[in-house]
Order: sequence, then structure tokens, then C-alpha cells
Amino acid sequence: MALPNKPLGEIKALKDPEVEERDVDILIVGGGMAACGTAFEIKKWAKDDDKILLVDKAAMERSGAVAQGLSAINTYIGENTPDDYVRMVRNDLMGIVREDLIFDLGRHVDDSVHLFEEWGLPMWKKSADDKTLNGKKGQKMGTLKSGAKPVRTGKWQIMINGESYKRIVSEAAKLALGEENILERVFIVELLNDANTGQIAGAVGFSVRENKVYVIKCKTMMVACGGAVNIYQPRSVGEGKGRAWYPVWNAGSTYTMALRAGAELSMMENRFTPARFKDGYGPVGAWFLLFKGRLQNALGENYLEYDEVKKELESYAPYGTAAITPTCLRNHVMLFEMKAGRGPIIMDTVTALKNLGETMDKKELKELESEAWEDFLDMTCGQANLWCATNTEPEKKNSEIMPTEPYLLGSHSGCCGIWCCGPDEDWVPDSYKWDYKGKVYNRMTTIPGLFTAGDGVGCSGHKFSSGSHYEGRSAAKQMVRFIRNNEDFTPTLAESTQELVDMVYKPVRTYLENCEYTTATDINPNYIKPAGLTMRLMKATHEYGAGTATYYQTNGKSLEMIMDMFEDMRTDSEKLAAGDLHELLRCWEIYHRLYTVEAHLRHIQFRKETRFPGFYYRADFPGQDDENWFCFVNSTYDKKTNTWSLKKEPYHKIIPDA
Ligand code: FAD
Ligand code: ADX
Repeated sequence: MALPNKPLGEIKALKDPEVEERDVDILIVGGGMAACGTAFEIKKWAKDDDKILLVDKAAMERSGAVAQGLSAINTYIGENTPDDYVRMVRNDLMGIVREDLIFDLGRHVDDSVHLFEEWGLPMWKKSADDKTLNGKKGQKMGTLKSGAKPVRTGKWQIMINGESYKRIVSEAAKLALGEENILERVFIVELLNDANTGQIAGAVGFSVRENKVYVIKCKTMMVACGGAVNIYQPRSVGEGKGRAWYPVWNAGSTYTMALRAGAELSMMENRFTPARFKDGYGPVGAWFLLFKGRLQNALGENYLEYDEVKKELESYAPYGTAAITPTCLRNHVMLFEMKAGRGPIIMDTVTALKNLGETMDKKELKELESEAWEDFLDMTCGQANLWCATNTEPEKKNSEIMPTEPYLLGSHSGCCGIWCCGPDEDWVPDSYKWDYKGKVYNRMTTIPGLFTAGDGVGCSGHKFSSGSHYEGRSAAKQMVRFIRNNEDFTPTLAESTQELVDMVYKPVRTYLENCEYTTATDINPNYIKPAGLTMRLMKATHEYGAGTATYYQTNGKSLEMIMDMFEDMRTDSEKLAAGDLHELLRCWEIYHRLYTVEAHLRHIQFRKETRFPGFYYRADFPGQDDENWFCFVNSTYDKKTNTWSLKKEPYHKIIPDA
């Protein structure tokens, strides 16, 4: 149940919190698109007396990446085929993807889109004479399921009026699961393994509204806490600080909690460095695809026509020469121009709108201009504010596009995440599926009983909001199968409740024991505040871990050095201090960020090639080395010994080229 908004000021943390113990069958950690999918679906398969609990660190109706809303659903298969969808994702991610997971998603994802429309999400439609119908006008054409034509931006994306997208999706999830089975504003800190079998057995977390720790036992779990943001110093500074592209509250919890529970991660070297409208992080998809905007360099030229740029792309054939240039290579050529001194890169919004307006009357033109604003207002309203603040009317003044700081995620245009079991079907290669006691569970991690979806599932990017939701639904059925097939399992935690409470509240105790030593509570030789550790982490990754400081370059020596810094930060993280509940949240977020970005850079250190130019560069291993590196990189972490293990994992091509 949602708690009321807190009164003014932060809630002081007490030394000894209240403790609430829960024992459930199914635990869903996270409340975003994937978790909402699981929550919506699970009761259809569960028994009436199965106990289910969903825990979100925030309020579900605005939590996660869709908080501000979206202006497009980027994965709608419609008239296309799942095979083609696999080819698109494979090409965009430079060849190395899990085609079983992608195909599986492609064949079902539209069902979630149809549900969204049924729940009230307005979708843009084409009229009989091929005109764009926005909002209510679009609804008059009937539903997508009944055959109405969506307004496509690209081959896969459809436009929506999506400011309230997350509210709509979470309402359906809450109705299906029941408010009484939902805990909001509870941050999960650590997943717990069973003392006897090692399978997933529970989680521990705390409320950010009350001094209360939750110890939850479960028989199966969905971990879907989104990707990782603020692991690199953002480009925004000063008054803009805090502005980032992906949602700031996704702190890598999915990856850190899974890896600390022993789950195998995959392709953590992959990142997404989005090119965005500079400073406001406005999305570019609609501008490129719907408005047909083109980029130009500082000379006002279309640099994609330059021979040297074409040659650069050809060197990454077949991806660089494909009909749609992969996202990382679009960045790569942008950076190529900037390094040659021909930046900044400008989106020619003026010409784009002028060209589109040529066949339009005055009213249609006005609508087009408001669509351009709505694209931002629906999902990144800060960009619309910035346009106002800088007197930017897109039909009169062009805007700058810039690659941002890196993000880690598995559902957008990146593919890092957890190594998951594929569907139990003959065509799925053996190394992509494994059994637990003779049964194969789609989307189960390598830890029995632990499932993931959305940003959590590695090697299968481009699922976006719709695909994440579908994936959460699909895993729900598998989770119920898991508990049915393992009825004799009773979770036994290795740690006592007191040990868990002491772990979660350690930063509070550190603070209370030492805070009177100095007059300024943020400065103290006996502890470190999370804000300080955050800055230290960001500075290190920025400079050594291929951040914007070095045009996304790193090398073996820098990586070796940052690994030492991580070790020091880990030691210092033992002294994190929290005076209030908000700060306690910040402590655990930075702890999650630290492990996640270390996993990222350990993978980059292991993979001795530059697989994703434009996202990051190994300066000491430029270019792709298919002979040695056309494979996944998988890793595990042992928290008892603090050791990482990395290995190559073979790739299998399932869908032939067209
Ligand atoms: P999220 O939806 O981010 O959910 C993560 C959840 O985990 C949240 O509820 C969060 O509160 C919770 N959580 C995090 N940590 C913890 C913890 N420790 N304990 C408990 N709970 C926790 N997709 C499209 O289809 N079209 C678009 O136009 C589009 N545009 C986008 C624009 C932006 C700016 C962004 C950021 C994303 C966009 N996406 C778009 C992608 C889409 O939003 C994601 O693919 C999708 O939300 C991923 O779902 P998820 O459930 O994995 O993560
Ligand atoms: S958004 O999620 O913030 O809207 P973004 O603007 O990057 O993402 O892209 C939206 C969709 O458009 C994604 O499916 C992305 O792959 C696609 N896209 C963006 N730019 C281009 C481009 N220049 N060419 C082809 N596809 C693009």
C-alpha cells in the first residue's frame, strides 16, 4: 500500500528499526514495466492461496523509466515478422545477441501493446486517406487489435499519447495483484540464497518512509529493478545536475543484487551512450524517423556523405553497411566528426519541418509543430522547458545533438544483463537453456528460482517498454511452474534476522556513533556520506572507465588502475553513513552502482577488442576481432571471497540472414 507523502524535511534514521518478516511464495522486486507485467499476469496461473508480494522502492504509478511517460512504443511487430525483428536487433547490437530470447519476445510482444490500448492508452492512427490522427481522433479508427493502422515512425515504432503510460500500466498491475499485496517505497538491498540449496530464498530491504526493515522469504522471485544511471559523471553540471537520460533512481540494483546472489551476468561490457538533444536529453527517435530530421556538422554539411565517413562505416561491415546504421556506429561517426574539429553536431529541425509542411495547410502545419513539442512533453518535458528557456522554436532554430554519458541497460538500445535460460523448445541451442531438477524455465537466471525481465535480461536489447512488459508476463507463468514443481521447498535463510537488520542499518549506526565528532555532519574522519562516494565513483569512471572525459576511450592500464580504485571504494563503503532515511537509500544505491559499474569495466577489460565503437573504445584494441571475440562474455562474482570469474560463451546464429 502506498504511504502518504512525507512531511517537510527528511525522516531521521533511528538506531533500531522496527522489523517486519514476511513469508510469501512469490516475490516481485521492482514496480516498473517488467514487474507490472508479472503482477498483471501472475494470478492467472497461481493458486488462490499462493502468497504474492511486489516491492517497489518508489510509487508504482510513476516509478521506473516510464515515469515521465513516453511518446512512442518502440517495439510493435504488427505487419513485420519476428524473424525480421531478430535481424534488426542483431544488426544494431553488432552481431552478438541471444536470438532465442529475441524471437520469443518478438512473437508475443504485440499482445502487451493491445492490452495497453484496451486499458486506455491512446495510440496515434492513420486515417483511411493516410493522414495522422492523434489522441481522441485516433481512437475513432478502432483499436490496433481490430486492425486499425498505427502511425509508424520507423519500421518497429508506433506513436502514442503517452504522458500517463506508466499510470495506466501500473493501475492494471495493481488491480490484478491487489493493493494489499504491494509494498511501495521499500528499497531491496540484497537477495538471499537458501542456506541448504543455494536457490533463491528471500530478500531484505527497508522502508524509506518509516524506520522499518523487511525480511522476506520466498520460493521464487522476479528481480526487475531496471538499469543503471549515474554510474558515470553526467554532462549536466551546476543547476542542471541531477538531470540524466535514463531515470536517476535506477541504480543498478538488478545487476548488483543478482551478481551478489551468484547469478551469471552476460555482455556487461555493452552500454548505451545515447545521442540526445544536448542538455535536455530530449529523445531523437521521432526527430530522425517521423520528422525525417538530418544531422549536419559545424560546416552545415551532411557528414554522412563524406567518403571518409562512408569508409569508416564500411570498416564495420556488415553492420556499418546495413540499411539502418547501428546505434553505436551512428555515435561513432558523430564522434569522428567532433574529433576532426567539425563539431558540434546539429539536428536540422528547420528544414525537416519545412519539408514536411510543404504539402500541409496552415492547420495541419500547426498540428505538426505541436506534435514536435508533444514528443518532448510526453516523455522528457525538461527538453521542452529548455527549448522555451533558450527561445528555441524548432521551425526557426536548429538544436544541438550530443552523445551523453554512458548508461547500463538491457531493454533499450543496449544489451547488458543477466544470463537467462531460453524457451524450452527444440530449436533453442543446448547452451542457451538449462534445467533445474529436470525442468527448463524460460527467463530463469542461473540461480534456481530467480527470474528476471526487461533491463535484467542480457543479450536481447530493443525490447523497450512493450517488450519489457511482455517479458515480465511471460516469466510470471514460469515462476508459478517453478513453485508447483518444487512444492517441497521451504526457504531457509543463512543469516539471522538480526544479522540482516544490522547489515541494512549499518550506515545509520556508523552515523549515529560518530556524527558528534565534527560540527559539519557531512565532514567526518570516521565516515563517508553517499554523496561523497558518488562523486568519487563518477570521477573514477569518467576518467578511467571510458566516460565522456576521454571521448569514451579506455585501455588496459586505465582499467587496471580503476580496479584498484574500486577496491578502495569498496573498503570505504563499509564506512558509509546515513543520518536520515533518504540518505540510507542513497548509501545502498551507491553500493549497487559500485558493483554494477565494476562488472561493466571487468567485462571491458576481458573483451580485448572494440565491439561497440561509439559506445566505448579499447584504445589498445581498436576495431572488432571476430576471430577471437565473436562470442558472449559471461561473469560471476563470489561474495564470500570477493572474486570475479569471466569466460567466453559461444554465440549461435538461429535466424538466417534475409
Ligand atoms: P523500469 O521500468 O525502469 O522499472 C524499474 C523498477 O524497479 C522501478 O519501479 C523502480 O522503482 C524499481 N526499483 C529499482 N531499484 C529497486 C530496488 N532496489 N528495490 C525495489 N525496487 C527497485 N520505451 C519505449 O517503448 N518507447 C520509448 O519511447 C521509450 N523512451 C524512453 C525514454 C526514456 C527517457 C527512458 C528512460 C526509457 C525509454 N524507453 C522507451 C524504454 C523503457 O522505458 C524501458 O525499456 C522499460 O521501462 C524497462 O522496464 P524495466 O521494468 O526493466 O525497468
Ligand atoms: S527513446 O526511447 O528515447 O525514444 P530514441 O529516441 O533513441 O529512444 O529512439 C527511439 C527509437 O528510434 C528506437 O527504436 C531507436 O532504435 C530508433 N532510432 C533512433 N534514431 C534512429 C535513427 N537515426 N535511425 C534509425 N532508428 C533510430
